[in-house]
Amino acid sequence: MNRYPQAPSLAVALALFGSIAAASAQNVENGRHLSERWCVECHAIGPTPGKSKAQSFAAIAAKEKITAEMIASFLRLPHATMPNVPLRGNDAQDIAAFIMGMKK
Ligand code: HEC
Repeated sequence: MNRYPQAPSLAVALALFGSIAAASAQNVENGRHLSERWCVECHAIGPTPGKSKAQSFAAIAAKEKITAEMIASFLRLPHATMPNVPLRGNDAQDIAAFIMGMKK
């Protein structure tokens, strides 16, 4: 008899949790990648402010009321001062996740 009847389901739960964690880490990584490609020209995307013309991503993330959804939908709109970045699939959400990851 199995002395630990709960063990298999715990293993499944841990495996599921592991894959979810890996997936979201990858999305943030994609967001960082896209930001380095398209956003650094104007926004500081790292901890150091640099020579940015616009607010740093850390400053955007620090705003009290900002959410990942707001950033993602902002990115899908054409913006006068920002170039149109060719975002596909979940790119906007990935960038938003990357920015929100800087929230303290
Ligand atoms: C050509 C310069 C330029 C580039 C490139 C650029 N931005 Fe911006 N962005 C601005 C300016 C200017 C503003 C408006 C002023 C401000 O918020 O500092 C702005 C505003 C924003 C805001 C809104 C901040 C708020 O207060 O709600 C977000 C979010 C943002 N940018 C994200 C991005 C992301 C993500 C990228 C890369 C995909 C990007 N920007 C690329 C110039 C740029």
